[in-house]
Amino acid sequence: MMAYMASEITDIADMPRGGPDASCLDRLLETDRQEYLDRDDIDADVKRSIVTALDRIGTLFREHDRNAELVLREVADIADPTILELGAGHGALSRKVLEQHPTAHLTVSDVNPESVAAMAASDLGDHPRATVGLIDATAIDAADGEFDLAVFALSFHHLPPAQAAQVLAEGTRVAREMLVIDLPRMPSLLHIAKLAAMAPLVWWPFAHDGLISSLRSYSPSALRTLGAHAGLDVDVSTNPFDRQVLIARRR
Ligand SMILES: C[S@@+](CC[C@H](N)C(=O)[O-])C[C@H]1O[C@@H](n2cnc3c(N)ncnc32)[C@H](O)[C@@H]1O
Repeated sequence: MMAYMASEITDIADMPRGGPDASCLDRLLETDRQEYLDRDDIDADVKRSIVTALDRIGTLFREHDRNAELVLREVADIADPTILELGAGHGALSRKVLEQHPTAHLTVSDVNPESVAAMAASDLGDHPRATVGLIDATAIDAADGEFDLAVFALSFHHLPPAQAAQVLAEGTRVAREMLVIDLPRMPSLLHIAKLAAMAPLVWWPFAHDGLISSLRSYSPSALRTLGAHAGLDVDVSTNPFDRQVLIARRR
């Protein structure tokens, strides 16, 4: 049987999305191409349409509810938890947490100014337990330990390895614990089948970004390597057909 050699990662920036032990095929199934959401040359209306589609599809498949359950589980023992949502996009996750937890305080943020303006103009802007703000997850403007929990949902794969490790360091600096919820990295043959099924829809900006997301998603071993690089304790629970969940804490 051929063994995949776990190569030494000397520079985290060079780590494959499949992790240090990624197979040759897995290493081919990644891209440096950016999603429309991350590109400065893409019209704000196109980006808005993607964020709106993420919100609608997340509502249809109850993703926001399931993500809110994960958030609520992490703060179950805290009376009045303070929660920082990074990369909130449309704010649906924070909205669910505010609905389901009567005393939680949410800081709802994104690095995209149009998304922040749209969330501030929505019900979140007037909510007595919510603050909406522009925050870059790689350089969080907050004091050490200011929050009980930082959460980053469906956004981690947007960042290349060095910045992704920086998000873990920053999230666990400003919060007692960081929860990352992201797309799975499928086994290579299934991944190829998924990409083939998505390819005809690539004209649709949401599918374009979905296809690139798939190629940029991190494997469990990549997530553990990023956590170790940031000097953190991480737990990764994963299922190749469902979301991956990483919980990071300072050692
Ligand atoms: C695919 S959307 C996810 C939106 C939402 N969290 C959800 O679950 O549907 C990715 C989000 O990450 C944001 N993002 C990308 N890089 C970021 C960074 N460095 N800091 C904060 N947010 C970032 C994007 O602006 C975008 O809103």
